[in-house]
Amino acid sequence: MEIIIVESFDEAGDVAAGIVARAAETDPELTLGLATGSSPLSAYRALSARVDAGLDLSRASAFALDEYVGIPADHPASYHEVIRLEAVLPLRLDPARVRVLDGRAADLAVECEDYEQAIRDAGGVTVQLLGIGTDGHIGFNEPTSSLASRTRIKTLTTRTRLDNARFFDSPDEVPRHCLTQGIGTILDARKLVLVASGDHKADAVAAAVEGPLSAFVPASALQLHADATVIVDEAAASRL
Ligand code: GLP
Repeated sequence: MEIIIVESFDEAGDVAAGIVARAAETDPELTLGLATGSSPLSAYRALSARVDAGLDLSRASAFALDEYVGIPADHPASYHEVIRLEAVLPLRLDPARVRVLDGRAADLAVECEDYEQAIRDAGGVTVQLLGIGTDGHIGFNEPTSSLASRTRIKTLTTRTRLDNARFFDSPDEVPRHCLTQGIGTILDARKLVLVASGDHKADAVAAAVEGPLSAFVPASALQLHADATVIVDEAAASRL
């Protein structure tokens, strides 16, 4: 695992965007793994600037990590909407090549199986962007998720629901369930890039990077990956 400590969130985004841009220049038809939440936002901003300067991502495919169960795709907090506004539009991705799990599918188990198949059909994920939850989760793989897990329905922890309540009108509105790529699914990506910013992430980053490999800290699974880069600002690196 490569750990890159930078001064600011913006600088973290620049470094992450550089990794994605190099992969896209090598293979314009690459498959991007897109994350939601605050962590990838500076990377999307920096990538958007590169797109404005000529980087072409229009032939890339993309898969989002996770989605809430039960809220409509156009709900402002749904990851369909977040991915559309934060990634598809600014990065000028082709919406037809971008897939987000459908948290309102009639059969959620079938939706998860189809998603795994679609990733395989796309040739696997070339570069997967990741954030990290304050409890060490990646995607929505909460502590105790199997390190070999595949895309499936999960129950959100109270802590994650409270962390994400800022995106909803009230904490009660945060869904209790989600669909998420599994840790095993995430580890199949050829390159992992995790961005963390702020001192509220410092404990999770230290546990993931320097702690034992453990299902109690899902992000520690990055220790198993041959090409994982963790980009942290000084606050998030403060317990390393
Ligand atoms: C959310 C998302 C994760 C994200 C994490 C951190 O619940 N499902 O993919 O990495 O929690 O969020 P943030 O970056 O906003 O701190």
